[in-house]
Amino acid sequence: MTNKYIYFVANWKMFGKLKTLNSINKVMSFVKKFKKNKLKLIYCPPATLISPLNDKLKSTIIQIGAQNCHESDSYGANTGQINSSMLKAVGARYVILGHSENRQLGENDNLINLKIKNSIKSGLKIIFCIGESLSQKKNKQTKRILSKQIDRGLKKVVNKKKIIIAYEPIWAIGSGLTPKNSEILEIVKFIKGKVRGSKVLYGGSVNNQNINVLKKINNVDGFLVGGASQNSNNFVDIIRKTFN
Ligand code: PGA
Repeated sequence: MTNKYIYFVANWKMFGKLKTLNSINKVMSFVKKFKKNKLKLIYCPPATLISPLNDKLKSTIIQIGAQNCHESDSYGANTGQINSSMLKAVGARYVILGHSENRQLGENDNLINLKIKNSIKSGLKIIFCIGESLSQKKNKQTKRILSKQIDRGLKKVVNKKKIIIAYEPIWAIGSGLTPKNSEILEIVKFIKGKVRGSKVLYGGSVNNQNINVLKKINNVDGFLVGGASQNSNNFVDIIRKTFN
């Protein structure tokens, strides 16, 4: 990996209470020793923890992201929803959008596109997730599916510099399975060919064992880590091994 920055995005999903934030101390002290220009570290906790985490991480290089948001950039009668400007106001700098777990709940490309556009307006950077299912992979539809997700998700998005694309095959998320390096390399090349200048992360079962293999993919700009980021020892291991 020869890129200037390598991104590590911790997607905590529905995990963590106030006390859980203490576990990040290990990561904070590890990061202190790190050369600033190499590492972009972004924690995406549940919305309930963004504000306290923001207080905790002040004066560190660690940044904060949200895991989703409502598509509107103004207030509204939307019970249970949070919009991007509200997330920005409590310390989020990024938001994960288009995650397959939310697509499975009914988010379609048009909705994701709206969320992306309004989140950019609110001043957030976007971690835009795309990925194919196992049957789509088996039917050799991966590129077609990703292409569609990108074209629709980024329709009329002018400021593509605000977008980081996370390639997350649905079948690799939480399964312990990962594509072969050669497959990831090819897909990342394909994505970068479609969205010029974009950063592309890989996500799906990244852990402190397979990172030794995954880090060899030289066009990947970093990793979106779910389960393994919930344990600070494992997460530090993943970062350390990537740079070793
Ligand atoms: P996983 O999740 O690392 O637990 O597979 C990744 C993700 O869903 O972003």
